[in-house]
Amino acid sequence: MTDVASPPVPSARAGADGAEDAGSPDPPPPWPVSAINPLRAGLHLERTPAPCALVLFGVTGDLTARKLMPALYELAVGHPLPEGFSIVGVSHRDWDDATFRAEMRTAVETGARSPVTDESWDLFARGLFYVPGDFNDPAAYDGLGARLDAVDRERRTGGNRLFYLATAPEFYGPIVANLAASGVGQRQDLYADPAQAWHRIVIEKPFGHDLPSARALNAEIGAAFSERQIYRIDHYLGKETVQNVLAFRFANILFEPVWNRQFVDHVQITAAEAIGAEGRGGYYDHAGALRDMVQSHLLQVLAVVGMEPPALFNGNALRDEKVKLLRAVVTPRGERVGQETVRGQYEGGFSGGRQVGPYREERGVEPGSGTETFVALKLEIDNWRWNGVPFYLRTGKRLPRRVTEIAVQFKPVPHLMFQSIGNLDLQPNVITIRIQPDEGIALRFAAKVPGAATQLRTVRMDFLYGASFGESGPDAYERLLLDAMLGDPTLFARRDEVETAWGLMQPILDAWSERPASVYPYESGTWGPAKADALIRRDGREWRRP
Ligand code: BG6
Repeated sequence: MTDVASPPVPSARAGADGAEDAGSPDPPPPWPVSAINPLRAGLHLERTPAPCALVLFGVTGDLTARKLMPALYELAVGHPLPEGFSIVGVSHRDWDDATFRAEMRTAVETGARSPVTDESWDLFARGLFYVPGDFNDPAAYDGLGARLDAVDRERRTGGNRLFYLATAPEFYGPIVANLAASGVGQRQDLYADPAQAWHRIVIEKPFGHDLPSARALNAEIGAAFSERQIYRIDHYLGKETVQNVLAFRFANILFEPVWNRQFVDHVQITAAEAIGAEGRGGYYDHAGALRDMVQSHLLQVLAVVGMEPPALFNGNALRDEKVKLLRAVVTPRGERVGQETVRGQYEGGFSGGRQVGPYREERGVEPGSGTETFVALKLEIDNWRWNGVPFYLRTGKRLPRRVTEIAVQFKPVPHLMFQSIGNLDLQPNVITIRIQPDEGIALRFAAKVPGAATQLRTVRMDFLYGASFGESGPDAYERLLLDAMLGDPTLFARRDEVETAWGLMQPILDAWSERPASVYPYESGTWGPAKADALIRRDGREWRRP
């Protein structure tokens, strides 16, 4: 992130929630700065939060090792973290600071992009502390509070606390209640004194299991913390390319005039994964693809693709528009669920270059499981812009490859004068926004084939992030962790957003629970059950092969 051409970066910033973040002077980086790319020169890429302690519940878990620690390390070496930044890990294991540091070093060495040297690690590990404790035991929070007070004194974190819940969801309620009861985490309302130390809480998905449980969880957390303190993670919002949808749509004059029912035939959103349940069978078998991917990530992507332009790029303006869009989405109900949704479950097959077994043989999965690992569905948006334009969503595990993309398929031209010269095999325009991998944007259009004859072909114009900016963006968790420390909730899900999204899924979940038999098998390494092709072909359309 460090750019030698950047002007000096201000070290203090007002948090978007109103808290004034008093930053600290930036120490010189002990690692080499990246070369100058003309597209990055002169940009203010760094934002430094106030010193704080990140209290991480669930440090022995997979998320901490795979995502959070590597992301925090990247933030530390990439420089935006303030001096004194500290991480206090909490879990039931009988570890001490030294064990915690050693475990986290292994995780960072495995998961981080940047190299880990003894020098860079020592600098980072100096701020790692561990508190053993049972999340359900109120006494554990006294120990945590005492440790945090000591960290405040020794590392000058000023009482600023970011609580991060990376535990199994059944602990969310007890942790929040215990934090509040012990006073370790304090409720702060919208008009709290900005000079006061801030307390914020980050909550991982799954945020509920259905609409009633999401409402109950919101109520439980809302009883202890105010909405401005609550940061619900949907890591897709932290992905650079999802944010780039906003830039593409709202910072260019070209696309918005055609981004509507007059010009768009339909939209396809695909999130394909090559991996299977990967040791998460215990969780996944109770969730399934609709809860795991559609309710959260795909609906967020749908919202940024379909929403109206917000007046400002800030937390409430953006989220107001997303909620408005989600409220206009029509999901199938009752009988129509069987026609407009397809569920699938992977069988054995060949995936990622190796032979793989069926879902039902994954660890933690019931042998007779009826959980879907693939889902395809058709949604409509009942508003002025999108009336009559279908949105087809699909996601699945053990598909041929990992690819997430949005394809906006336009209508054919009203009259093609070239028809007289023969069969042209032309395809209508498509704008494809590739979220991962090979992040970029492609436009499909018709072009003349060079030569004396008038022959036309469909061609692609490609923009590739990596090629243009010379480096890929930060991992989604880096962006989101930093935003939470800065007090910027723009890329986090608001209470009404989460509940609206669950409300859209509930009729489908209800219909499925009444008809548990209709889960179609598909071979690993294929694009899902044939029934999914039938869903879109019925409308005279085809799934793209990304
Ligand atoms: C998580 C889901 O939220 O997102 C996983 O629980 C899924 O099942 C993952 O694999 C996909 O994230 P990404 O960033 O790899 O597309």
